[in-house]
Amino acid sequence: MEKILAPSLLAGNHADLKSSLKEVEDDGRSWIHLDLMDGHFVPNLSFGPQTVSDLRPNSNLFFDVHLMLARPDLYLEPFIQAGSELITIHLEPEYDHLATLNKIRSAGIKTGLAINPDTSVDLFFPYLDQVDLILCMTVNPGFGGQSFKGYVLEKVRELSKRRNAEDYSFLIEVDGGVGPQHVEECLDAGVDVFVAGTSYYNSSQDERAKFARSVGEKF
Ligand code: DX5
Ligand code: ZN
Repeated sequence: MEKILAPSLLAGNHADLKSSLKEVEDDGRSWIHLDLMDGHFVPNLSFGPQTVSDLRPNSNLFFDVHLMLARPDLYLEPFIQAGSELITIHLEPEYDHLATLNKIRSAGIKTGLAINPDTSVDLFFPYLDQVDLILCMTVNPGFGGQSFKGYVLEKVRELSKRRNAEDYSFLIEVDGGVGPQHVEECLDAGVDVFVAGTSYYNSSQDERAKFARSVGEKF
């Protein structure tokens, strides 16, 4: 399975997101993680679909869009139009999860499902044969720069076990507080996509390359 280091633009310079995006591409990365917040599902706001849309023509990076919204179903259209390549929605809020997943897929966009650190992994089980990515949050979403919650890796191990047993093809992503010091335990547990905001933007180009090599990225 491919391994990916996906820098989170949330930790970039919000007065110059275009440069923060370019930096990631120049570093040789293939994915960018984009965090959308609504001030309801999470106690913070970030940027909106217009930002994603305006960034799109500036980059060939794969747009991994993480919707931290109480009603992602009401905002899908602008994120589809904005050029998202993967849209991840959370299972905690109440809305029609299945219909929303189907709408993303029928727009030709890869589908992702996410849960917070203290949400039961069982919520994923009905969907394992129909999603492209499973996101296990390793912090409570809303803010960059928090500490990695290692107990979440127990869920990753469970998902990885089921994936092997049933031959599912979803990628497993972790997001929140991830740094080079967590790579080994994450790889052991079965993680494929490593989202890193603060630890990525705060390191040198050499350290970033080393980080990417340690997750198993080929470049
Ligand atoms: C958390 C976001 C993360 C965040 C990660 O609410 O979903 O993607 O940007 O940032 P760090 O790596 O700084 O925890
Ligand atoms: Zn995220």
